[in-house]
Amino acid sequence: MCGIVGYIGDKDAFPILIKGLHRLEYRGYDSAGVALLNNKGELHIFKTKGKVNNLEKYCSDKDVSGNIGIAHTRWATHGEPSDINAHPHYSQSKDIALIHNGIIENYLSLKQFLKDKGYIFKSETDTEVLVQLIEYVKKEHKLSLYDAVQRALSQVIGAYAIGVIERQNPNVLIAARKGSPLIIGVGEGEYFLGSDASPIIEYTNKVVYVGDEEVVRMEKDREMEIRNLSDSVIVPEITELQMDLSEIEKGGYPHFMLKEIFEQPRALSLCMNGRVHEELKEIKLSGIIDHIDRFRNARRILISACGTSWHAGLIGKYLFEQFCRIPVEVEVASEFRYRNPVIFPNDVMIAISQSGETADTLAAIELAKSKGAFIYGVCNVVGSSIARATDTGTYTHAGPEIGVASTKAFTTQVAVLAMMVFAIGRELGTVKQDEYEKLVTELAFIKNKIEEILALKDSIESMSKVFTYAKNFIYLGRGFNYPVAMEGALKLKEISYIHAEGYPAAEMKHGPIALIDEEMPIVVIAPKFAMYDKILSNVQEVKARNGRIISIVTKGDTQIKALSDFVIEIPETIECLSPLLTIIPLQMLSYYVAVAKGRNVDQPRNLAKSVTVE
Ligand code: F6R
Repeated sequence: MCGIVGYIGDKDAFPILIKGLHRLEYRGYDSAGVALLNNKGELHIFKTKGKVNNLEKYCSDKDVSGNIGIAHTRWATHGEPSDINAHPHYSQSKDIALIHNGIIENYLSLKQFLKDKGYIFKSETDTEVLVQLIEYVKKEHKLSLYDAVQRALSQVIGAYAIGVIERQNPNVLIAARKGSPLIIGVGEGEYFLGSDASPIIEYTNKVVYVGDEEVVRMEKDREMEIRNLSDSVIVPEITELQMDLSEIEKGGYPHFMLKEIFEQPRALSLCMNGRVHEELKEIKLSGIIDHIDRFRNARRILISACGTSWHAGLIGKYLFEQFCRIPVEVEVASEFRYRNPVIFPNDVMIAISQSGETADTLAAIELAKSKGAFIYGVCNVVGSSIARATDTGTYTHAGPEIGVASTKAFTTQVAVLAMMVFAIGRELGTVKQDEYEKLVTELAFIKNKIEEILALKDSIESMSKVFTYAKNFIYLGRGFNYPVAMEGALKLKEISYIHAEGYPAAEMKHGPIALIDEEMPIVVIAPKFAMYDKILSNVQEVKARNGRIISIVTKGDTQIKALSDFVIEIPETIECLSPLLTIIPLQMLSYYVAVAKGRNVDQPRNLAKSVTVE
């Protein structure tokens, strides 16, 4: 979704802003722009439809001097992607420029009010309404920019993260946030603004996470000031980013997605570090230790998430029910939040989110919270809105995920859920000590088995080239691997634009089997577990209809292998942890099919990395 960058200090702002926009490209966008205040007292806005490279070209013969500026990548919501709708937006007098992430829900009534006051609008955006409102309030009440922003925002319903500069005020950068992420980087007498840490990290690791309804005033060589909309002074809390630049660069890989697929063994190590104690055969999660009674007394667990995180949640259900014997409901957050669900005060909600900014998941949390449920977060991005909205939780520590298609976020989410379940199960007595020790040991070493699968890179790549012709794929799995089938299908459709569906294998004969012919690739996830014979019958049904079978089987398999056109062998493991292995070849398959089709793997069309609108 939209990205925000800002700078105020002694350096040239333009290169910092452009580099920052490039770093935010992964979030998904369709236009880009920059506003700069130069030392002749001019406020220039340059913006174009399309990529940041276009913007750079467009600016190549323009005056881009100035030590203060704001920049933006826009993912269209109100009004099509166009030069005019791109941010920043000027106020009527062209004295104020503003960038905005989020949605102003009452923009139509505010727009009408401003029109009645003589304001003229150039774009279709809700953002232009905001900048005009700030100018109106400023003039009407003779306020400073800081005060005007604060006052204008108190009239706004919706979500926002904004950066604002003013021609007559060349030393001040104002920012504010509600619902959309915003971080301030604190340098030596300078400040950086970012939707996340990626545009900031190469300059400073000291950051302030702007809180909801907070307005920040930054001035070169001065301490920042923060006030909230109720006019209370907030003391900025500076925290240190635990991240380094190499984590947001490709490091020799052609795409972030491939890098992130290959990073999974390391991501899992970081995720389990200090939590899975292989030598003691023990799992220690502070979020669980401190709140075990909430789980012990839980009437039910609700899992709420979207997309890939929802798929991880589905695996969580299988895990919790098998090992903790607590009933679990898993629901996509966008449905949960609007269907008036029954929520009890002794429910525990587990909210799963890589970005920690997904609007629907955040709303589901607020709803559950309002009914007294205890909220446990499983997030990747430290300090994110969801992480802060939850009562407690466990970070996945996968490191920044830049590729739009989630990979390492998924495996680390599943690993966190497994850790939670094994730890809770032991406390509840539903997991016996010998079983617990076996589970802990397998989890601790699963990364080595992932390495073995990653080594199959060349054969998966050459197999993938065969399937570029396909218009549809079906993915089949059972039990713990049914959600993996859905996740494999999602990966393929996201980045290759091939239609794909994941089904519980036995459900195939209730409909999808009609689609099978000699053209149709069927990916069957069939490691050797209790349901093997059942899934073998499902494969035979496909074979009888001449489907092209790609199977994921346990090493040494003979029966399903004999029926398959292509086989990928994975090492043996315990069934409940098999999703951590079976998903790896599916991620690789999607990646290589997409590359062979010449797709933009890291930034697939229409998709945004963090979905901050509902
Ligand atoms: C799929 C993907 C999306 C996200 C979904 C939720 O590859 O990336 O489906 O999983 O938008 O995002 P988070 O986990 O950030 O809440």
